[in-house]
Amino acid sequence: MGVTGGIAAYKAVHLVRLLIKEGHDVTVVPTEGALRFVGLPTWEAISRQPVTTSVHDDVARVRHVALGQNADLVVVAPATANTIASMAAGLAGDLLGTTLLATEAPVLIAPAMHAEMWRHAATQANIATLRSRGVHLVGPADGELAGGDAGPGRMSEPEEILAAAQALLAPGDLSGLRVAISAGGTREPIDPVRFLGNRSSGRQGAALAAEAAARGALVTLVAAHVDAAVLDAVEHPSVVVVHVGTAAELAAAMKDASASADVVVMAAAVADYRPREAADHKLTKAEGGLGRIELVENEDVVAALATARSQGRAPAGQTIVAFAAETLPDADDRRERARGKRERKGVDLLAVNLADAEHGFEKSHNAVEVIGEGGAVIAEASGTKRQVAGAIWNAVLGIR
Ligand code: CTP
Repeated sequence: MGVTGGIAAYKAVHLVRLLIKEGHDVTVVPTEGALRFVGLPTWEAISRQPVTTSVHDDVARVRHVALGQNADLVVVAPATANTIASMAAGLAGDLLGTTLLATEAPVLIAPAMHAEMWRHAATQANIATLRSRGVHLVGPADGELAGGDAGPGRMSEPEEILAAAQALLAPGDLSGLRVAISAGGTREPIDPVRFLGNRSSGRQGAALAAEAAARGALVTLVAAHVDAAVLDAVEHPSVVVVHVGTAAELAAAMKDASASADVVVMAAAVADYRPREAADHKLTKAEGGLGRIELVENEDVVAALATARSQGRAPAGQTIVAFAAETLPDADDRRERARGKRERKGVDLLAVNLADAEHGFEKSHNAVEVIGEGGAVIAEASGTKRQVAGAIWNAVLGIR
């Protein structure tokens, strides 16, 4: 990733973070000018790689061409008018210049400059030259510029540049697939300050969403109560988050999203019951309203989605995945329960995991077995929730 000397260099720090979060290895090549805006230690810390700007450092490893030769993609963000001119002329005066000349990988630039500089005939001619050589552009956006000006020239947002970069790298194996995922624990109100909830953190559902987006899917994530940090980590241009509270709200949002989804994954911990009535004021001990709460059953959302599918109210070939967190200590018993649940709910795949003090809820790791047609265990996965998510998506692709 080349970073050149514009004020938008500070936004490029976030882009490096996003690229790394998506699992890419990023080497930052700042120009001398870029280092006047954001210093070398920041680039090294954020990219977790050594950073140099000069062709004369680390000559033993011929870095001046190696970086370009080894890259799968070169991104230049921000790309200043000066850098765009250097690229058009094929100048190799610094490490970024040599990297750009040595690479056969796709090149993506995110221009950033004042509107006048962008509109200038010289810049436009340089852009036309770069385009004719196959260089890809993202932006510039129209908006507020440094120094209070406005107009075209603003660097695109890091999320947008990330999406363009991802599209240029091998298109994911979930490319174009529309998926609806529920995550987190529902909360059923007792009164304005109390609720019936559960220990789901939403981590597994969030990991499924992040993994799907990274592999090219368009994701609707219906989030019941999910830890804020967990949700932040899913930020991606292809993920739309719909916030819900109760099981009924989750049901409505999932029915809506599933009506146009190719794959539906119910990773949320949905309350099976809710208080018959939520009090409109905080209940007091004196009233006696808390000692006994009458519960009524909630709809089984995933079963309803399977029914909708069987009645043709879903895209043809829709795949439905459910989860089951079981506390039965014996793996055979858990599997048997999971087989029954899969049949009862009418889903294609059911991912079953052990939920006890060490496993499942609120943990960063998970271990699941995926039950498929006829009750067969078609996949097993353990590791981080992101790794488990990867295995579940592989299992989905395996049956589609
Ligand atoms: N589920 C759902 N709607 C509910 C309850 C659960 O859609 N009202 C979904 C969950 O999101 C999960 C799957 O059903 O994908 C299994 O949840 P679980 O609570 O294990 O199933 P239950 O039917 O509640 O089974 P149990 O008898 O074990 O409580």
